[in-house]
Amino acid sequence: MELVEITEGKTTVLIPVQDDTTQFPPGSAPIFFNRRMELNRDVTILLLSILQPSDYLDAMGATGIRGIRVATECGIPVTISDREPSAINLIRKNTERSGLAIKVIERDANALLSEQSFDAVDLDPFGTPAWVIDAAIRGTRRFLFVTATDTAPLCGAHLKAGIRRYGAEPMNTEYHSEVGLRILLGFVVRETVKYDRGIEPVFCYAREHFTRLHLRILRGAKAADETLSHIGFIHQCKKCPYREEQAGLHTVSITCPLCGEPLHPIGPLWLGSIQRDGITKELKTLADTHEPGSKKDLLKLLDACEEELPTSSFYDYHVLAKRLGCSPPAISVVLERIRAGGYAVSRTHFSGYGIKTDAPLEIVFDAISAQQ
Ligand SMILES: C[S@@+](CC[C@H](N)C(=O)[O-])C[C@H]1O[C@@H](n2cnc3c(N)ncnc32)[C@H](O)[C@@H]1O
Ligand SMILES: [Zn+2]
Repeated sequence: MELVEITEGKTTVLIPVQDDTTQFPPGSAPIFFNRRMELNRDVTILLLSILQPSDYLDAMGATGIRGIRVATECGIPVTISDREPSAINLIRKNTERSGLAIKVIERDANALLSEQSFDAVDLDPFGTPAWVIDAAIRGTRRFLFVTATDTAPLCGAHLKAGIRRYGAEPMNTEYHSEVGLRILLGFVVRETVKYDRGIEPVFCYAREHFTRLHLRILRGAKAADETLSHIGFIHQCKKCPYREEQAGLHTVSITCPLCGEPLHPIGPLWLGSIQRDGITKELKTLADTHEPGSKKDLLKLLDACEEELPTSSFYDYHVLAKRLGCSPPAISVVLERIRAGGYAVSRTHFSGYGIKTDAPLEIVFDAISAQQ
């Protein structure tokens, strides 16, 4: 296997040479490395610098880049594991080159997390993490980080796969990326509460082809019950953009107040906030001192997340404009019109055309279709 050196953050590692002429170069090499996940890794580095866990497991190491960066940039004791012997050989080579005392374990993640626990656990699998969440909850003391790249099942494009993996029914709506994140989070919550443990989302976001959760695990039945109170459904009309939230695990039947159609339940999913108060400000401050490679995109993401209202869905105002048969004004104009009516309104990191608001749909329609 031909290797090449790359540097990310303050870390240099060897990765297998990839065939850049293929559609997905990371898939062309025997051991996985995706340069486009630099921002994903940068966010985790900054969060770990804030959360300061006593140790960290990179449970799906591949080249080891993630764990080696954590050891180098956060100064936390790190274990890196993977079940593939070829990956373990490369991880060993890379950790030796780093000169740091990183523990390397060749083990299936489910087996390792059933036997040992770590203060912070990071899951970065191919596609879905559904198969490893149960063991990860048992093997995590305080912080659980999860990447999912199976956006089609999570977002409702592959409906049956989504139902099988996450025990929830998504829907391919205009806010499907947010549905995907909330379905994944709802699944992790249901896997967690059975152990009388709860969850606090620290910083969760969706981007390009992935969803990323950074969660704090809480102890006790009370915390579990409080966490469960944020699980419920979004009831979406299939004829019009109307939707409403319903907390609880039993769906009720609701009729659309705008067109009289029965609403369709999406879920169960997480309805609560997806970030801890003040976390985006802390991350932005750290980004200025750490200077991560993805800084420009990262600050854009953090600004969007900081502004974002904690509603469970958003409107795509271009979709609404098309429905109203008008050409969409600038998004700033729509936001200002809604705000002038005394409503809370924001953009969202989930979509450039997305609008979050507590205003009734009629007010949003008026803000889009009003004459200049
Ligand atoms: C997407 S890659 C990880 C990428 C890496 N974390 C990074 O940031 O570059 C997924 C890795 O998970 C490993 N893997 C797959 N199934 C596993 C399992 N059951 N237990 C442990 N590792 C597994 C694969 O061998 C692969 O190296
Ligand atoms: Zn309707």
